[in-house]
Amino acid sequence: MEEVESKLQNVVISDVKSNHIVDNSHSVLKANKEKFRECQENGDEQLPNGLQSPTTHQTSTENEGSTELSELSSDIVTEEKCSETPESCETIEVVRDNKTFRITYKVYESELELPSIMKLIQKDLSEPYSIYTYRYFINNWPKLCYLALYENKCVGCIVCKLDIHRQITKRGYIAMLAVDKEFRKLKIGTTLVQKAIRVMRANQADEVVLETEITNQPALKLYENLGFVRDKRLFHYYLNGVDALRLKLWFR
Ligand SMILES: CC(C)(COP(=O)(O)OP(=O)(O)OC[C@H]1O[C@@H](n2cnc3c(N)ncnc32)[C@H](O)[C@@H]1OP(=O)(O)O)[C@@H](O)C(=O)NCCC(=O)NCCS
Repeated sequence: MEEVESKLQNVVISDVKSNHIVDNSHSVLKANKEKFRECQENGDEQLPNGLQSPTTHQTSTENEGSTELSELSSDIVTEEKCSETPESCETIEVVRDNKTFRITYKVYESELELPSIMKLIQKDLSEPYSIYTYRYFINNWPKLCYLALYENKCVGCIVCKLDIHRQITKRGYIAMLAVDKEFRKLKIGTTLVQKAIRVMRANQADEVVLETEITNQPALKLYENLGFVRDKRLFHYYLNGVDALRLKLWFR
């Protein structure tokens, strides 16, 4: 996931403040195209990190981080990439210490929800993702973004994507998952993952993958409880130097 972020950052000229970003999405695209053209003119065989031909539509063969140019335009491309949503809203009651929590799970609906999603996820990150990263995932796969609400406050969320990997596998990818500290161990994380997986399955996914820090016991336990297995160790994957584990769940 850090990989996605750094590659997206790589094509962003400078760290733009969020209130400029909507207006700047076209300039980012333009900058990419220009950079691509420049590489072509220079005869560069190796394109800079994350930059691919604007005309190619192949998916990453290396890892989830490779982002094709058309995907970077997620603010302006509104093509439906994940059409089946088995359930869009559900309320589940959980009891802890004699207190009942009514948690409502709902699919992402509008950009108005983005600030609360970002706030929640950023709390647990040492280095915040840019708004481009959120928009890349959420605008392309809104039905793979679920929120958990308690009294209308966002206390959990999951952000995913679903696309073709190595031209044959329909692969779901869990990019972000976070639950507010006050609401942990109420199965909110598990429920969010289950909901996203259900949507992926309904959209013919073959498998789902994610990366998590090797030290992140709560996440590892959560995913392993759901049947994910440790597929690969990615050394020094995160900017803080920590290794990642790639976890995978096969549907067929
Ligand atoms: C990981 C995280 C999403 C779990 O959310 P949650 O709602 O508390 O998880 P759940 O209540 O569904 O817990 C499911 C299982 O995970 C494990 N788990 C959850 N929290 C744990 C903890 N603090 N220590 C050990 N295991 C834990 C348990 O096995 C738990 O099952 P159990 O309650 O039957 O024992 C949450 O801790 C979080 O937001 N962490 C910070 C962000 C993060 O690490 N995201 C994942 C990145 S991939």
